[in-house]
Amino acid sequence: MRKRVAILISGGGSNMLALARDMADRNHPGLPCVVVSNRPDAGGLEKAREMGIDALALDHRIFKGDRAAFEAELTRTLEEYGTEIVCLAGFMRILTPAFIDRWAGQMINIHPSILPLFPGLETHRRAIEAGMSVHGCTVHEVTADLDSGPILGQAVIPIERGDTPGTLASRLLKMEHRLYPAVLRRFAAGDRTKVTIMGDVQEPGPGPG
Ligand code: GRF
Repeated sequence: MRKRVAILISGGGSNMLALARDMADRNHPGLPCVVVSNRPDAGGLEKAREMGIDALALDHRIFKGDRAAFEAELTRTLEEYGTEIVCLAGFMRILTPAFIDRWAGQMINIHPSILPLFPGLETHRRAIEAGMSVHGCTVHEVTADLDSGPILGQAVIPIERGDTPGTLASRLLKMEHRLYPAVLRRFAAGDRTKVTIMGDVQEPGPGPG
């Protein structure tokens, strides 16, 4: 039986699309059941519908800061769709311990850094400013501590001379689209072996030795 996968988004949903496209394979151990956005204007909602996936907006603003009430409604929706796995894909809401507990062991997230480096926001700028020569992304299980659950997979790319947060983010996003589906395939099959992807690491040219 394929596991029912819900994908939570807040924006363009390119990672959601990468997951959904991969799950279009009938032999995939996961099956997309619903896409939910906390922002009604998220571009990803329409893209999901175009793929024939139910897509709903659950606007957090109508809950006026009551996170517990928002999450109760979110859980109700996810349960209604028989969700067995929750993929956070650019879902920009802090989750309470109660929600995380409810979905413990069933919820994964993609974060645009090589965790445990650079949890939180503005990871691309911070990696450049720290003088890193590589950057990357991580898929991890979601636990109560932000961006620090068990790591399920990582992909690494070089930071190039002249990279800005924007150029780095767009190169990394392509890698996210490879990593997240690769991890979900394993996770949905009950396999937590880590996925590792090394992207285009440039060989140094012949030097003085
Ligand atoms: C991705 O960079 C993801 O890692 C981050 O938010 C971005 C979402 O992009 N958390 P998209 O909505 O999947 O296109």
